[in-house]
Amino acid sequence: MTEMQIEPPEYVKNQKLVEWVQQTAELCQPDSVHWCDGSQEEYDRLCQEMVESGTFIRLSDEKRPNSFLCRSDPSDVARVEDRTFICSIRKQDAGPTNNWVHPKEMKETLRKLYNGCMKGRTMYVIPFSMGPLGSHISHIGVEITDSPYVVTNMRIMTRMGRRVIELLGEDNDFVPCLHSVGAPLEPGQKDVPWPCNDQKYIVHFPEERSIMSYGSGYGGNALLGKKCFALRIASSMAREEGWLAEHMLILCVESPEGQKTYVAAAFPSACGKTNFAMLIPPDSFEGWKVTTIGDDIAWIKPGRDGRLYAINPEYGFFGVAPGTSEKTNFNAMETLKENCIFTNVALTPDGDVWWEGMTKTPPDGLTDWQGNPWSPDSSKPAAHPNARFTAPASQCPSIDPEWENPEGVPISAFIFGGRRSDVVPLVYQSPNWYFGVYLAATMGSEKTAAAAGKIGDVRRDPFAMLPFCGYHMGDYFNHWLHVGRELSEPPRIFGVNWFRKDENGSFLWPGFGENMRVLKWIVDRVHGQASAVESPLGWMPKYESMEWSGLEEFTYEQFSKLMIVDREVWKKELLSHEELFEKLYDKLPKEFSHIRELLLSTFWLSPEHWELAPERFTDTGENNH
Ligand code: OXD
Ligand code: MN
Repeated sequence: MTEMQIEPPEYVKNQKLVEWVQQTAELCQPDSVHWCDGSQEEYDRLCQEMVESGTFIRLSDEKRPNSFLCRSDPSDVARVEDRTFICSIRKQDAGPTNNWVHPKEMKETLRKLYNGCMKGRTMYVIPFSMGPLGSHISHIGVEITDSPYVVTNMRIMTRMGRRVIELLGEDNDFVPCLHSVGAPLEPGQKDVPWPCNDQKYIVHFPEERSIMSYGSGYGGNALLGKKCFALRIASSMAREEGWLAEHMLILCVESPEGQKTYVAAAFPSACGKTNFAMLIPPDSFEGWKVTTIGDDIAWIKPGRDGRLYAINPEYGFFGVAPGTSEKTNFNAMETLKENCIFTNVALTPDGDVWWEGMTKTPPDGLTDWQGNPWSPDSSKPAAHPNARFTAPASQCPSIDPEWENPEGVPISAFIFGGRRSDVVPLVYQSPNWYFGVYLAATMGSEKTAAAAGKIGDVRRDPFAMLPFCGYHMGDYFNHWLHVGRELSEPPRIFGVNWFRKDENGSFLWPGFGENMRVLKWIVDRVHGQASAVESPLGWMPKYESMEWSGLEEFTYEQFSKLMIVDREVWKKELLSHEELFEKLYDKLPKEFSHIRELLLSTFWLSPEHWELAPERFTDTGENNH
């Protein structure tokens, strides 16, 4: 092993950090070590170096100032769930939905891989804060990486650099996050634009609160502050400490009277969380405003007043580009105007970016995400379906004035939704916290491109956390039940489904800005101001209790199609929950089997096709609050 001298800057006082960096340098044997200060000069220099090495393409200064395109290796384009491990000491603490290897064994494997893995490269030390600096809800991490792509993305996605080291002081704690692309360079060997390794490991040690990632340079596998820390490690910290780390967006709905209601919502990857977080209400909603606190992750802690308070631990958006347009997400398009990194999108001849869905007709002369000429009759998309933008949250026109409030914002409602072309109605409200936890625990979604695997299959994705929970999912459900029991003002819980289709495969609901109609009903419910009918699943809006102005052609018949709760279909759906429960049986909350029985019995009470009782949807004058 080399006698590597890491020479920390004079402002680094934390001995644990210095020792860890020293040991890591000795193991990984980089050519040099760089301590990131988080400055603009540092960012600009790294971007320029990546332009020179062919990793980045500088976009047109007029079209997309200070922005870059990056093309990944075609084999390294998504999170790798089958290579993601929760290495708790006991297997049963990781649970059956996580891959597990004993930490000792995993460390031996990784030690061999990390040995000399940074040869010929610079090792970067990135101190970062998840959450506003100094907030009692925030936590600090330090990522060591050999990827300048990771450094520049982390600068957009987290608060990083010297300020964080200063906050760390001599003995504050941090989560060590080690990352390598796993591609050492022999002397004289030429580098490639996107180095990575066929062997990939995304590994979490929940007891010692550390992360080790090897072989991938892609976002979720490599920007370790995000999914690895802010969800997998943080969920396990949250369980121990009595809070919640969730795969949720946070938004604020402001009424014309100025009443602000904060809502957190969980949808599986690539189901429109970013669009929903940046929703623009239809013109007919005069005076209503939606503002954005976060689009992907929420850290939520109980306040002294018996309510839950949430922060967005991130500092930027790492969003799915395809499908994003002025029409579907105007605020995102505004956010993307400058200072962004685009990964695996297409390039226009005038140095701008393009992806499927950005405009109706693609511009001429595109270069696809792999660097090849592309034309509309090509059988493959120009941008990869999981192409991403990395954008500073502060550039978002809808960013909420409270988004950096270290106290967080008080959450009044949780919304859970999956991508279901059938079965699940547009919106329903759980009668109480327990049923709400059940509904979130059993939510299903059809697969998308954000993770490797077959697109279209339905999988149960409890709380949209299946790939992100750092411990046993059964313990996680119990933790949610427990948190609710302690709250005097628990948020109300709602289920939604924007993706229901008719028999011809067309979406029944227009979605996007029109989701405001559902959001308004939810907010009204929270304030006890909207009527509802009781359904087998909970409370549902009547046709009359939704705001339809500006969408005149949306008929009662269309609405009731969206709201169908078919008894036979639901009996099957409820029975299919058993599959998940069986898997988790050793730690499943005892409440769950009772709730399922209760739901089944309500279906026996209800009409065969619940939607065939139209009087339930029309205002009969009865009080259904
Ligand atoms: C994401 C994901 O990148 O959920 O946000 O995959
Ligand atoms: Mn996500």
